[in-house]
Amino acid sequence: MEVKTVTEKPWTGRFTESTDAFVEAFTASVTFDQRMAHYDIRGSVAHARMLADVGVLTSEEQQQIVAGLEAILEEIQNGDFNWSIALEDVHMNIESRLVAQIGDVGKKLHTGRSRNDQVATDIRLWLRDEVDTILAEITRLQEALLVLAEREAETIMPGFTHLQTAQPVTFGHHMMAWHEMLVRDYGRLTDCRKRVNIMPLGAAALAGTTFPIDRTITARLLGFDAPAENSLDAVSDRDFSIEFTSAASLLMMHLSRFSEELVLWASDPFSFVELPDSFCTGSSIMPQKKNPDVPELVRGKSGRVFGHLMSLLTLMKGQPLAYNKDNQEDKEPLFDTVDTLKGSLKVYADMMPTVEVKRENTRAAAGKGFSTATDLADYLVRAGVPFRDSHEIVGKAVRYGIEQEKDLAEMTVEELQQFSAVIQEDVFEVLTLEGSVAARNHLGGTAPQQVHAAIQRARQRKAEELSGGNNFQDQSY
Ligand code: ARG
Repeated sequence: MEVKTVTEKPWTGRFTESTDAFVEAFTASVTFDQRMAHYDIRGSVAHARMLADVGVLTSEEQQQIVAGLEAILEEIQNGDFNWSIALEDVHMNIESRLVAQIGDVGKKLHTGRSRNDQVATDIRLWLRDEVDTILAEITRLQEALLVLAEREAETIMPGFTHLQTAQPVTFGHHMMAWHEMLVRDYGRLTDCRKRVNIMPLGAAALAGTTFPIDRTITARLLGFDAPAENSLDAVSDRDFSIEFTSAASLLMMHLSRFSEELVLWASDPFSFVELPDSFCTGSSIMPQKKNPDVPELVRGKSGRVFGHLMSLLTLMKGQPLAYNKDNQEDKEPLFDTVDTLKGSLKVYADMMPTVEVKRENTRAAAGKGFSTATDLADYLVRAGVPFRDSHEIVGKAVRYGIEQEKDLAEMTVEELQQFSAVIQEDVFEVLTLEGSVAARNHLGGTAPQQVHAAIQRARQRKAEELSGGNNFQDQSY
């Protein structure tokens, strides 16, 4: 970014000395808040239109201002705008450029508003769009998981508790567990968006304005659901950013868990999945290495988002009403949260369709570790043995299996009958991996039939969500 120093600050009236050069740079936010320029201009256009509607500006003044702002937006988009540290932030940079371009009429734009309600409005407009992008990325990742779940609905893998083989599950069921986490993340962000989409503009510095503004006009022009009820609250609280970062933290926590599993599964001892070369990197010293950098990095990046949540909470917690300069520190953590989240979701949505499942390996792993022991216990219960006794019986069979290096399904019926006479030939229907997963055939269970049903319900829910989805329209352009 090119930064030019100019001197025409709009607030120098009561000052006799110029700002210390370091303080000027220290207090400036333009290096990062210029990112909201587009939204700052949209907010200003709506404000000018409203001022004309209520008779504070003439329609000619309004037209000049709007045309000037549109020209500035173009300059910014073309990279022709000279950002100045001396002009502190995105708001004063744009306003001062407006005055330079259209003359004194540009100075009327700031009537009935303050940078305090302006910046709060900008952040909300910006964040609203980012939430929509993030929601779309979650949907893309969800769809990738549904496709994978469908493809691998019959694939057997070990299910773990304590990272010890517990019971066989289907790979599709495992993918649907991930999918379910994203359903809740999507819901949290959708809900958060409702509170983001409230308009601070009109709160002015803190107490409102003496001009006869109509905040419903600006709210409608900008696609907000409603103007904020209280001017002091509107300019000061950043709870919507904290709420977003909190939802983002949970989402990153989920992606981090997916990552941990992928890293394990891609390792040689597991060898459950093959990640494509295009999503891995090599080692500069060990020629055989293919490292799962993408999931590792996503797992690592969760840390910075959790950190941003802590930063924002701490930033807010000691602030008296109303606006304090502390709030300028809200942007970088929020921006980085959005960037990290978008990047992590994108890389996951791109990567998941390319993940190859090594079905023989996942099946072989499920065949070890006596994963159908619970099925044998349940079989005995169905034959009238009390569960506690059946648990004991199967425990003994497992001990025998460890000594003989045989899984339960590999024993003969005579061998099994040593432990309980009720065991018959039909026991093998429940001791096989396919029999075990197929038997868990109820809503939420791992049976392939249930995986297909869950996929269908998920698709149905998503279709309803998207058709009834948000209908907020920004009408400022
Ligand atoms: N750059 C400021 C911020 O990010 C804008 C608001 C400045 N308001 C003020 N009274 N100094 O919060």
